[in-house]
Amino acid sequence: MGRKFFVGGNWKCNGTIEEVKKIVSTLNDSKAPPQDVVVVVSPPFVFLPLVQSLLRPDFQVAAQNCWVKKGGAFTGEVSAEILVNLGIPWVILGHSERRSLLGESNEFVGDKVAYALSQGLKVIACVGETLEQREAGSTVDVVAAQTKAIAERISDWKNIVVAYEPVWAIGTGKVATPDQAQEVHSELRKWLTDNVNAEVAESTRIIYGGSVNGANSKELAAQLDIDGFLVGGASLKPEFVYIINSAT
Ligand code: G3P
Repeated sequence: MGRKFFVGGNWKCNGTIEEVKKIVSTLNDSKAPPQDVVVVVSPPFVFLPLVQSLLRPDFQVAAQNCWVKKGGAFTGEVSAEILVNLGIPWVILGHSERRSLLGESNEFVGDKVAYALSQGLKVIACVGETLEQREAGSTVDVVAAQTKAIAERISDWKNIVVAYEPVWAIGTGKVATPDQAQEVHSELRKWLTDNVNAEVAESTRIIYGGSVNGANSKELAAQLDIDGFLVGGASLKPEFVYIINSAT
């Protein structure tokens, strides 16, 4: 399979300088992640330089968002160019909280992913259905449409990780079962095979997010098409180190 296991920690809108230093210190004091595991932590924008300066070099840093085009008169936004200038290698785009709270459409997210890649950033692109969409049986249609809006705008998939995050599992403690997650991951990989190509489908990491913790990560990681995690709440806790090692 050859896909490097990938664990992201999305800190969301959390942290003080003291708390950030404590989380980084816990990570720096942890045993090194296995060779074939990529670990990326994503603090709020204002802590990016601090985390980047303190974090052990075998861990990487991501922004939680970036603007859709070249920077300029866009008050409050942070451009891809600024992140590149800061040496931040990754960015999370299309998180469901931004899609729902800020009205980011599939097309807007697709444009953001394309622009971030064009500036040299690596992207964690988030997709996922709401509980209503799942109960209506439209999960695969929804995540396929979200993925299509990205696929239509890019030609190179080597710097993208797709994060499947069922909205109903985010922050709720209601983690998807391994079968539920595997089913959608498999459908996403099939969509990539059918609509991009077999090589992209095989090499693109599809990671799961939504109430991942130390108690459920190992069983989820054992699923064929789950290539890692995007962890929220648990990434702020020492158990994140356990999750990083759950593929071993
Ligand atoms: O981006 C990851 C996040 O949405 C998952 O949050 O707290 O359910 O792990 P949480």
